[in-house]
Amino acid sequence: MTSTTTDTSRPAGILRLANSFCDAKALLTAVELGLFTTLHEGPAGAEEIRERLGLHGRGLADWLDLLVEVRLLEREGDRYRNGPGADRYLVRGSDSYIGGFIERSNRNLYPAWGRLSEALRTGEPQSGSDFEAVVNNPHILAQFINSMDALTRVLGPQLIDAYDGWTGYESVLDVGGCRGGLVAQIVKAHPHLSGAVFDLPQMSPFFDEKAAEQGLTDKLSFHGGSFFTDPLPSADIVVLGHVLHDWDEQQRKFLVEKAYESVNPGGVLLVYDRMLDRASSRVENLVISLDMLLVTDGGSEYTVAELRGHAEAAGFASVEDRLLGDDDTLVVARKAS
Ligand SMILES: C[S@@+](CC[C@H](N)C(=O)[O-])C[C@H]1O[C@@H](n2cnc3c(N)ncnc32)[C@H](O)[C@@H]1O
Repeated sequence: MTSTTTDTSRPAGILRLANSFCDAKALLTAVELGLFTTLHEGPAGAEEIRERLGLHGRGLADWLDLLVEVRLLEREGDRYRNGPGADRYLVRGSDSYIGGFIERSNRNLYPAWGRLSEALRTGEPQSGSDFEAVVNNPHILAQFINSMDALTRVLGPQLIDAYDGWTGYESVLDVGGCRGGLVAQIVKAHPHLSGAVFDLPQMSPFFDEKAAEQGLTDKLSFHGGSFFTDPLPSADIVVLGHVLHDWDEQQRKFLVEKAYESVNPGGVLLVYDRMLDRASSRVENLVISLDMLLVTDGGSEYTVAELRGHAEAAGFASVEDRLLGDDDTLVVARKAS
């Protein structure tokens, strides 16, 4: 049972919700220890799992059985195997691996959520390191990039389907596009487009590696700089995905204005984020908004109405929004020709 369906009118339901962080930690730990990766090789009994993962043994059966109850594992007699979701999405090294995000949650978000009270009292982030420290440490930056790759791997095909204007344009620029995971997918799906990423200069070697790995070095380019102080290159389609939620409302307004300048006449700005609807937001999006409280200086998710206001004030001629994937909203803002 998930927190959205827990019956919180009864003590048992309230206690179940209060303990749901334990289910989450059981999953985070399973990814950290490589449980699903090892079980991908084949089903195993508890003793074999203990040996392979180098565990003590105490608590092991309970942890495995808990993962059975939440349907990440299946049990047959005394052997455990991956459930279909775990086998598809949580096996390290596979193309559909989304564990990069989960690994980051375990390292960064889980301890930060332990300090939610402090964050609510002070308004200060609680993750223990700012983003500058992340980008200046190549090892930690690589972990951050893996977690972004995990998200764009899922979101890329959804964005490619949700927006139907790719064929009318020649160039796409992903602002805050990390190592180019999204733009590579767009250019592969629509090979007539040339793709570019604007991101902090420290992303450059990771971008080069990705472009080479995808065989796209002649189709993709990287522009290093800060979007607060450096000019953006221009393009027909400009993307701002999971970027605005890192910043406060004034900074979001500034970035939308800046993006307006970089969209060619007749072009579009595509913005996606876990946008909120103040009357009734999804639990998942409120959680991500609180993640932003915990890990950024002023960021939060925001409403479509707020973004519409920034886009219209910047000069966009029309603004439409639609659902993207399970939880994101895509806003398409058109610039007059
Ligand atoms: C949350 S990630 C989003 C990545 C990607 N767009 C996605 O959808 O997964 C935010 C991105 O903004 C970049 N970024 C942060 N500050 C920046 C700045 N001042 N100038 C340019 N890029 C910046 C980060 O390096 C990171 O790649």
